[in-house]
Amino acid sequence: MKMSWKIGDLRDKLDKIGQGHLLNFWGELTCPQRKELTRQIVGLDENLIPQLSELVRGTVNSSSQDKSNLRPADTLLLQDLQRDELRKKQALQSGEEALTQGKVAVVVVAGGQGTRLGSIRPKGLFPIGPITKRSLFQYHVEKIRALEMRYGHVIPFCIMTSEATDRETRKFFQKNKCFGKDESSIYFFVQGTLPTFSPDGKILLEKKWRISCSPDGHGGILNALNHHGVLTSMAEQGIECLYYFQVDNVLTQIADPLYLGLHRQAGADISAKTIAKRDPFENLGNIGTLDGRYCVIEYSELSEQQKTRRRSDGRLVFEQGSIALHVFRVSFLQSLIDGNRRLPYHLAFKKISCVDESGRAVEPTQPNGYKIEQFIFDAFHFAEKVMVVETDRKKEFSPIKNADGNDSPITARRDLTNFFASWLHDCGVDLPFDKNGNSRVPVEISPLFADRPDMLCKKIARPLPSKDYLFE
Ligand code: UTP
Repeated sequence: MKMSWKIGDLRDKLDKIGQGHLLNFWGELTCPQRKELTRQIVGLDENLIPQLSELVRGTVNSSSQDKSNLRPADTLLLQDLQRDELRKKQALQSGEEALTQGKVAVVVVAGGQGTRLGSIRPKGLFPIGPITKRSLFQYHVEKIRALEMRYGHVIPFCIMTSEATDRETRKFFQKNKCFGKDESSIYFFVQGTLPTFSPDGKILLEKKWRISCSPDGHGGILNALNHHGVLTSMAEQGIECLYYFQVDNVLTQIADPLYLGLHRQAGADISAKTIAKRDPFENLGNIGTLDGRYCVIEYSELSEQQKTRRRSDGRLVFEQGSIALHVFRVSFLQSLIDGNRRLPYHLAFKKISCVDESGRAVEPTQPNGYKIEQFIFDAFHFAEKVMVVETDRKKEFSPIKNADGNDSPITARRDLTNFFASWLHDCGVDLPFDKNGNSRVPVEISPLFADRPDMLCKKIARPLPSKDYLFE
């Protein structure tokens, strides 16, 4: 790379990509400010920026495919899985073997800005324990530690952060001594950013000397895994399966062996867990096939007719919603990198603080520009083999998206309590429930105390402590 960039070089580059306005305030900038802006301009991808600008101006479309031919993906339904004892047993064995032999790593995407939740701290720090207020991160790490103890092998935990979440996330882990997990088995890596654009395709300036950028979406994980050498390191360690989840799903059953085993048995490139939608209009993506390729279609892309169409047995045709719990074959991810397969870019029209043409700071009250993201599920398009399995919402899906209402801290704590209460119930402990089936008392079980109901039953002493149901 060229070592010293002169103003003329910067101008040439920007003119070539139609972004000359980025130097409008050059004359007013201090030396350090010029350096900062220069670094960012040098980093702009000359091929990509014009493409993104065209996308924003609507002259190209990232997903112009006609969705009317969408077909539902073959899905292993929960009821069929429960009936097929042999398949279950063999899959479980295969998953446990992968864990015992150290063939599994876990990755969490934790780079999102959590705008709907409105918290200024990274979401993983959110205090979610119904009694102890243990954080999402602590809970996730304890689940991994429980697996490590059960299967006698270290499980690498990769945490994708963004510029917005990296510092605080690392500090949180440091302060809490990685929640007891061996520090050398935790890998932080920062996802990339993309510039934000005005509707006329011009890159926005956050300050006169700084380009406005935002994280490149959970799909940015593909580039980030490669860029930071995480994929190579996994391959070197003999890791075969990468279990992927989102930081805000409090019920994630991390790297559960049955799922890993089903994935391995199918020889899948990607696997996905789904849940039956509550109703035709629940806002979950659908896994399907289009022209023979797998895809995840966002809820908003389904027509009214597709959303409500039913099969002869009464179930919705597009009943299965994706909950972003995936297993990836590591060599498949590597093949995407090697084959230079790029995930498409998606636009989100948002309120973006910026400076206007006259250099005045703008704090918009209405959306004024586009953030650009990649989505991990677009990798389905490149997969030859996909395994989709239905799971039980109550056991695996309760995300924290909003400050209140659905998918909020209140519903996540409630669902976590109900999940643990069901274990206690299995152990013969009677808890008070309200008419909606929700436990009236908070319950919390550290995965280090018990990571399965049978383990809990063995460990709990009766009579139970009277007031709270905390096990750790
Ligand atoms: P969401 O799309 O729900 O975004 O991310 P969010 O940032 O959590 O919340 P909003 O939309 O701003 O309110 C789903 C998952 O993907 C991660 C998030 O951290 C979350 O685990 N993610 C999202 C990233 O890691 N990077 C991104 O750029 C976007």
